[in-house]
Amino acid sequence: MQLFPLSPFVATFCSHFVIDVVPLLFCSLLLLRLFIHVHTPRDKRLPPGSLGLPYIGETLKLYTQNPNSFFSNRQKRYGEVFKTHILGCPCVMISSPEAARIVLVSQAHLFKPTYPPSKEKMIGPEALFFHQGAYHSKLKKLVQASFLPSTIKRSVSDIEHIVRRLLPTWKNLTINALQEMKRYAFDVAIISVFGENLDPEIEGIKSLYECLEKGYNSMPVDLPGTPYRKAMKARKLLNETLRRLIEKKKESGRHGGGLLRVLLGAKDERLNQLSDSQIADNIIGVIFAAHDTTASVLTWVLKYLHDNGNVLDAVTREQEEIRRKLFEANRGLTWNDTRRMPLTGRVIQETLRTASILSFTFREAVEDVEFEGYVIPKGWKVLPLFRNIHHCAEFFPQPEKFDPSRFEVPPRPNTYLPFGNGVHACPGSELAKLEMLILLHHLTTSYRWEAVGDEDGIQYGPFPVPKRGLPIKVTPK
Ligand code: HEM
Repeated sequence: MQLFPLSPFVATFCSHFVIDVVPLLFCSLLLLRLFIHVHTPRDKRLPPGSLGLPYIGETLKLYTQNPNSFFSNRQKRYGEVFKTHILGCPCVMISSPEAARIVLVSQAHLFKPTYPPSKEKMIGPEALFFHQGAYHSKLKKLVQASFLPSTIKRSVSDIEHIVRRLLPTWKNLTINALQEMKRYAFDVAIISVFGENLDPEIEGIKSLYECLEKGYNSMPVDLPGTPYRKAMKARKLLNETLRRLIEKKKESGRHGGGLLRVLLGAKDERLNQLSDSQIADNIIGVIFAAHDTTASVLTWVLKYLHDNGNVLDAVTREQEEIRRKLFEANRGLTWNDTRRMPLTGRVIQETLRTASILSFTFREAVEDVEFEGYVIPKGWKVLPLFRNIHHCAEFFPQPEKFDPSRFEVPPRPNTYLPFGNGVHACPGSELAKLEMLILLHHLTTSYRWEAVGDEDGIQYGPFPVPKRGLPIKVTPK
């Protein structure tokens, strides 16, 4: 998931600004001056860049211009490591693969994950995203085990079943690609977390998630009727539903499959116990991380294939070849079939690069850190800029061009980070790719799609996606 997409930042910022900050601005400025005086190391060099106006910093600049230009203008002016001040926080932005590696991998212990408290509360404070050290690594092992290729290969036919049910509902209709991809990615997330389709409970869980998502991406204003208040209520109900499900599974002794079984299994091992609330927070967090991200990428895949007819034709030929073999053998897709889709795989890789739906991530320095000749003071945010690395012409010539063939050669180390890097790297990357391949197999072999309306452009809600979620008309072949 974009653990820190752009728009929630704006929302968080705006709400604080309007409700809390204006009356307190004067006092804040005085305190800020004092704070900076006390906390800025005198003898060490901060990275170049501008901290902008007090409190506001460069936030308005970031959100009133194309974020890409904000980052790249500063990179041109100050280099690959520069300071700025956004959303009330001093930040260091980094856009070189080596520097990103230091923050995410080699010195990861010095840079902890950081989220606004409202978001942490909404996902669940015991979810692995928010932690470092022993608790994080215990959970990470369990989550990773549930999404390894050797585990998810057993889900191919279940995922294919979801696709076979979904695509006919699009026939001869104009659909909102993003919304439909969300439905799909949600259903896949549910089976990979619970190991089965929870038909009686699923609709309830789905609508609670929708509410949660609206609140997550809105201003954290806890007043009656606000999306935030509704989301917190939905979160409580979601927790109760999950607790009931966990209880049911424990009583029946049937843990099902998927992540829940692994987490319940860990609970049974005496040395590795997880409480019910730890299990619930992580289940909720993983579903949250799994579906909007994958849905946004899939929407981009459809957009790029639509706009690049020659690539679509080649992908369709690759998929039709597989379809012929399945027909002859009278069987559905297997894991091995999905390993024989090199061109479709490269289309997914190139989409992840071009769209870079997670433009950056956030960390916080846990102490004063010496960094490439500068100092990053304790408490400053550090943002590895994935999008800038993916759009750097030195690593990806003609970076704005959609060209899957560039992945015929592996990218240079540390230059391709759609799933992050290091201890917090995405454990769901193989599942995300698998579900995209399965959907593309059926879509390209059985249907055509045409964009409705000729608007190009990007909407940020919360991930960058094609404008209006890409309305498309789908017709059978
Ligand atoms: C195309 C879809 C996806 C993209 C682009 C994506 C991207 C990412 C990125 C960049 C991170 C690292 C964030 C950071 O370092 O701050 C991450 C973390 C994470 N992702 Fe994904 N993700 C996707 C799909 C999934 C799926 C399908 C799952 C679930 C199975 C998932 C579960 C997670 C979890 C649990 C984390 C947190 C890991 C940790 O903190 O150790 N993601 N994702």
